[in-house]
This record gives sequence, structure tokens and C-alpha cells, in this order.
Amino acid sequence: MTRIVSTHSYRGGTGKSNTTANVAALLAQRGKRVAIVDTDIQSPGIHVLFQVDPQRLRHTLNDYLWGHCRIEDTAVDVSHALSAQQSTANGGAVLLIPSSIRTGEIARILKEGYDVSMLNDGFRDLGERLALDYLLIDTHPGVNEETLLSIAISDTLVLILRPDHQDYQGTAVTLELARRLEVPQLLLVVNKVLPAFDFRQIADRIASTYRSPVAAVLPMSEELIRLGSGGLFAVMDPSSAYAKGISTVVDLIEA
Ligand SMILES: Nc1ncnc2c1ncn2[C@@H]1O[C@H](COP(=O)(O)OP(=O)(O)OP(=O)(O)O)[C@@H](O)[C@H]1O
Ligand SMILES: [Mg+2]
Repeated sequence: MTRIVSTHSYRGGTGKSNTTANVAALLAQRGKRVAIVDTDIQSPGIHVLFQVDPQRLRHTLNDYLWGHCRIEDTAVDVSHALSAQQSTANGGAVLLIPSSIRTGEIARILKEGYDVSMLNDGFRDLGERLALDYLLIDTHPGVNEETLLSIAISDTLVLILRPDHQDYQGTAVTLELARRLEVPQLLLVVNKVLPAFDFRQIADRIASTYRSPVAAVLPMSEELIRLGSGGLFAVMDPSSAYAKGISTVVDLIEA
């Protein structure tokens, strides 16, 4: 059975794509077959973390949604992003289902829309046809059709927020949705926390505000800013506080 894990945040730029990519990499290092679907069709970006050249893609999620190909035809193997000695030897792999970054194709899908049930079928088919242990869904911020669908079908929802009052209010909205849709596992992740802050205090305060446990508090990391989505920081520096936090999230997803 493929487990579905979606990553959400109410506001943009909270760290969804970086978290999803790093979680995928650590799952694969543990021998799991993982695929990531970029459902951020308005502003795709997670392919950048895996250094995928969008010009070289044969198919994207858009092509599948338009009925031009099968969903599995869009998958790109990005396992090279794991460090060499830990890659496929143990059966672990990361596949990416990218969204198109061609202006005309983004405009068309936003204008014409698409049959959302195809996305649902696509997720199911990917799990079966690619023999996945985990299907990770990266999303656009806020609430839209893809958000609702992915929350509804998720085994785990990773909800990311920053220590910011706008994030606090919006997170309550998404959390309420997740509760109504009865998501089995909800993991709150606080990202971009200044290292000078008291992480335990922040985790306790957020857990009690939302009546939901905090899976990890991730530091605002200067190295991550320097990396600028140019790679997977948890793979590059496994002893960093960021990598340890991601690893805790992966432990909980696997529990
Ligand atoms: N813990 C962190 N410390 C420093 N920078 C971070 C951290 N997490 C993410 N970033 C940076 O923040 C920016 C946004 O990250 P990312 O793209 O992962 O967020 P997102 O939630 O997917 O954004 P969007 O809503 O636009 O999809 C990137 O430049 C990334 O490098
Ligand atoms: Mg993103």
C-alpha cells in the first residue's frame, strides 16, 4: 500500500517544497520508493531542488491532466540527488512528477481548469504502477481544489508554519479543514525559527494553541539561504539541526 503524505501551508514561502524534497530524500535513504507530485501548477518549483532542467522534460503533470500521456510517463528519476553511496543500493528511489513551467501551459490550465478526479486517479495509479511506498504531494499555498483533494486523501498531512502572526491565523483554517476531512496523521512543522529563540517554548505554545503536537521546529538556517534551493540540505549536511528536524518528521511519518 502506498501511503500519501501531503505538505501544506496557508501562506507562501514557508518551506513546503524544501521540506517535501528533503523528507523524500531521507525516506529514500531508508530504502523507500518515493514519488513527489508537484501539484503547485500555478508556480511549480520543487524540480529546482533536484536540478531537473525543465527544457528536457518529455511530459509533465499538465500533459497527463490534458489526456496526452499516462501519469507514470511523467515521472523523472531524481535519485541522483541522494548521496552516491546511499542511493539505489537499498532499493530506495525518488521520482518526480513535475508541473509545466511553460507560460502558455500554466495559463491554459488555470484558464480552462481540469478534471480534478483525474488527479485523484493519477495518485492511485502512480502508487500501483510505480510500486511506491510513499507518494508525497507538494502544493500551492492557501486553499484551492488541489489542496482540498490532497488533504482528503492523505494518510499524513505535514502542515508548515513560520513564527508569524499571519501564519498562525491561516494555519487554523487548514487545520480545521484537516480535522473535518479526518486526516489520520497531522504533523505541525514550525520552520524558519531564529536559532536564538527557545525552540521548546515555541513548540509547546503552538501545540497548545492548535491542540496538535509539533513534529519539529526547524531553524532559520543561513546555509539553507545560501543554498537557495540548489540542493537537498538534509542530505548535504546530515548533522545539521535542520537535517535532524527533517529526520524526526520522517520517523513520525514512518511510525
Ligand atoms: N529553514 C530554512 N532556513 C532558511 N531558509 C529556508 C528554510 N526553509 C526554506 N527556506 C528558503 O525559503 C524559500 C522558500 O522555500 P520553499 O520554496 O521550500 O517554500 P514553499 O513553501 O514551497 O514556497 P511556495 O509557497 O512559493 O511554494 C527558499 O528560498 C528556501 O531556500
Ligand atoms: Mg513550493
